[in-house]
Amino acid sequence: MKLSTVALLVSGVATVSAQTSFTGDTLQGYPVIEYLDLNDVPPNTVSRYWISAAEAQGGLPYFLPILVARGSEGSLDTGRRLSLSASIHGDELNGIPVVQRVFAALGNVVSSGNFNGTVIGLPTQNPNGNILNQRNFFSSSNNGFFTNLNRVFPGTSIGEGGSIATSYAYTIWNNVWANTSNVDIAVDFHTLSTGSNGPLWAYADYRLDGVQRLAELAQPDVLKIDPGEPGSIETTWVDHGVPAITLEIGPAKNWNQTLIKRSEEFVWRLLEDLAMLPENYTAPMETVSIGLQNSYRATNFSTVAASRSGWVQMDVVPLQDVQEGQAVGTLYDSWGDVIENLTAPVTGRVLTVKVDPATEQGAGVLDLVYNATSS
Ligand SMILES: *[C@@H]1O[C@H](CO)[C@@H](O)[C@H](O)[C@H]1NC(C)=O
Ligand SMILES: *[C@@H]1O[C@H](CO)[C@@H](O)[C@H](O)[C@H]1NC(C)=O
Ligand SMILES: *[C@@H]1O[C@H](CO)[C@@H](O)[C@H](O)[C@H]1NC(C)=O
Ligand SMILES: *[C@@H]1O[C@H](CO)[C@@H](O)[C@H](O)[C@H]1NC(C)=O
Ligand SMILES: *[C@@H]1O[C@H](CO)[C@@H](O)[C@H](O)[C@H]1NC(C)=O
Ligand SMILES: *[C@@H]1O[C@H](CO)[C@@H](O)[C@H](O)[C@H]1NC(C)=O
Ligand SMILES: *[C@@H]1O[C@H](CO)[C@@H](O)[C@H](O)[C@H]1NC(C)=O
Ligand SMILES: [Zn+2]
Repeated sequence: MKLSTVALLVSGVATVSAQTSFTGDTLQGYPVIEYLDLNDVPPNTVSRYWISAAEAQGGLPYFLPILVARGSEGSLDTGRRLSLSASIHGDELNGIPVVQRVFAALGNVVSSGNFNGTVIGLPTQNPNGNILNQRNFFSSSNNGFFTNLNRVFPGTSIGEGGSIATSYAYTIWNNVWANTSNVDIAVDFHTLSTGSNGPLWAYADYRLDGVQRLAELAQPDVLKIDPGEPGSIETTWVDHGVPAITLEIGPAKNWNQTLIKRSEEFVWRLLEDLAMLPENYTAPMETVSIGLQNSYRATNFSTVAASRSGWVQMDVVPLQDVQEGQAVGTLYDSWGDVIENLTAPVTGRVLTVKVDPATEQGAGVLDLVYNATSS
């Protein structure tokens, strides 16, 4: 079943109409807004705005770029509203060019006047993490601490007792996505954390109608059927009835063009499936379905963790099949002596492999995917 025919659970929710509040400021030529009301975005064009998700200690705003591709006038209400967001983790960078390149190509498509719907893009959701060259969001209070923003959605306003990190999430959720009113399908792009390698894979909570189709359109190397992570962007969408997946695009800090291109192709397949593309649009790239025959679908992870700190050498690669008990790597101490022989705890497929040898005790060095219940 095409996604365009999946019944929307959230449509018809009375939209609280807070109009786009333009602060009157512009930054690098683009207007700064406080709230995105899609009715105020011009049709048949791609628009750019900034929003301040929070202010850092000292009053420096964290400005996030927002891209909006609005289709034809009427399609704001009749077409689908898709969110493409990336890099909520500051070291996860492959989703950034996916969102940027899709919007660059959408410029020509929407200007035809026949684009059916609206796409909202947030290519860089965590500039604070970008500055610090790491995953989390740094807060200055007390002597400073880090928050994983992808565990605090939909966030908490300051009035309700929120912190800088939770109110930051609140601003994205409520003022960009309008508490789902602006969005009815969503993809949140991630990569692995720094120091590991892995393929293209999706987290998908099949319990919500539409999610399986969305994940299958991505044609990932691994499709992790997954109950989700409370407070993540993906799971917050799903909890609000909006079909969403997390798409993990290989390693951190390394623009892998192969995986970026596959992710872009997914977005064009998705736009087609949502009936958003005009009949005779000029495709910026092949969207031909490569099928699911290469997607390994499974429900469980099994992690190999180092029992002591040392230097690890892994002997397996992503997507390799391993048997329970198979040697997967070796942990050395600073003398070069072997302190642990690492083996696969289950039979399954290698998802992620540590490539940074520096290893702390308890740290995962390998993730396998498998079906715990399959015989
Ligand atoms: C626009 O999208 C809506 C929602 O998916 C769909 O019902 C409608 O048929 C589409 N219109 C066109 C012209 O494709
Ligand atoms: C967001 O919508 C939910 C219903 O889906 C509602 O319970 C909640 O209060 C809303 N949040 C805000 C901040 O309006
Ligand atoms: C990019 O990822 C593909 C698929 O995982 C891999 O074959 C290729 O070696 C990677 N390229 C770079 C430059 O890392
Ligand atoms: C699409 O292209 C075909 C063939 O060129 C043409 O017959 C048809 O009218 C076009 N449809 C639209 C909606 O422009
Ligand atoms: C794992 O189980 C799912 C059903 O939950 C099935 O679709 C998939 O093919 C199974 N994968 C493997 C590797 O056995
Ligand atoms: C495997 O995953 C399923 C579905 O998420 C879960 O219910 C089950 O507890 C997991 N089993 C193991 C051994 O982790
Ligand atoms: C690792 O495996 C080698 C070869 O089987 C063995 O000689 C060695 O004792 C093992 N080391 C540890 C720490 O288990
Ligand atoms: Zn991430």
